Amino acid sequence: MDRPKVVLGVAGGIAAYKACELLRSLTESGHDVTVVPTASALRFVGEATWSALSGRPVSTEVWTDVHQVPHVRIGKAADLVVVAPATADLLAKAAHGLADDLLTNTLLTARCPVVFAPAMHTEMWEHPATQENVATLRRRGAVVIEPAVGRLTGVDTGKGRLPDPAEIFEVCRRALARGVQAPDLAGRHVVITAGGTREPLDPVRFLGNRSSGKQGFALAGTAVARGARVTLIEANTGLADPAGADVVHVGTALELRDAALKAASDADVVVMAAAVADFRPADYAPGKIKKKDDAEPEPLALVRNPDILVQLSAERAAPGQVVVGFAAETDDVLANGRAKLRRKGCDLLVVNEVGAHKTFGAEENEAVILAADGGETPVPFGPKEALADTVWDLVVARLRRP
Ligand code: CTP
Repeated sequence: MDRPKVVLGVAGGIAAYKACELLRSLTESGHDVTVVPTASALRFVGEATWSALSGRPVSTEVWTDVHQVPHVRIGKAADLVVVAPATADLLAKAAHGLADDLLTNTLLTARCPVVFAPAMHTEMWEHPATQENVATLRRRGAVVIEPAVGRLTGVDTGKGRLPDPAEIFEVCRRALARGVQAPDLAGRHVVITAGGTREPLDPVRFLGNRSSGKQGFALAGTAVARGARVTLIEANTGLADPAGADVVHVGTALELRDAALKAASDADVVVMAAAVADFRPADYAPGKIKKKDDAEPEPLALVRNPDILVQLSAERAAPGQVVVGFAAETDDVLANGRAKLRRKGCDLLVVNEVGAHKTFGAEENEAVILAADGGETPVPFGPKEALADTVWDLVVARLRRP
């Protein structure tokens, strides 16, 4: 079988050095990679590095090997084009169809999925010109990954970092698997909660649960690959931030509720995959609770946490907003699931059976997705990503046209 052909475009930003790691991940996982750097990218990382790592010649402009018509051939033959880093200048050229070097020509001739991983200073990213260019590219079907937040070149910190190359690789893998299907969540804002809340008793102890967050992260990753703007509200997972998602870190149920309501205010879809503690300790001891000699422990007083899914379903930010819940059940799985769907008021409820060795922390999952309109979609045992894609298929079918 032919190896998938990937074009790695590299624009002239300091993050170009991180693209070397992406290149290695792509070649080591069996992809046939042609690197197309811009002239300014070569000022950061030289041709010898790209050529040695890809095992192929590297060129920048259309005047090399003209008889092979590289400006058309490379783009047409590609199964995926990924540009990492994509600078503000490169995004502007791509949005306007300019073609003054090999990379911009390749972008015009490619008919495969295209992924841009922008990296630049926060001000440049936030500038209306860049944002409009990004919106144009997304509308046309490209996947533009949101930059990560963190340390930038110099003393600055903020949004604009190139996401971790391993995470960009994941986006590429998913985009390749989807092929030329249109990114059906393009232009949509989706909010996903993941992980499990921790309700503190004192500075060192908490009430928690066994949710790993992997299903929520699979939902976030697949939504990015389908073109969505993703806000991932993460509680206590310890997992690396997925590329392309705006990640909000929370600890408790009350923090998760505040973050979810805020993010949901302009969202098209909200998915509550987090395991939220139903109760929290009535009192928080500011100092560590001590055991008192031989005395028996005091009973633990609890108070109810708000039901976030019920609130999100009842107070939708817009009439067409789609709300999805999860239900973990140990007995009477379907009957409990149907009752829960009615009680929560959401559009879809992903019901899975949990037990000692099922679901928590696993890479795979099995579920039935119940719909408020009566639909029932069984999802066979398989990767959490496959379940995530089925959830998005059902969500897309329920989204109103923009
Ligand atoms: N959920 C929520 N707020 C809570 C509890 C749960 O938003 N305080 C959401 C979860 O994120 C999930 C759904 O409700 O999407 C169902 O969670 P589950 O724990 O199965 O349901 P509970 O309401 O806690 O019902 P029970 O414990 O009685 O099964």
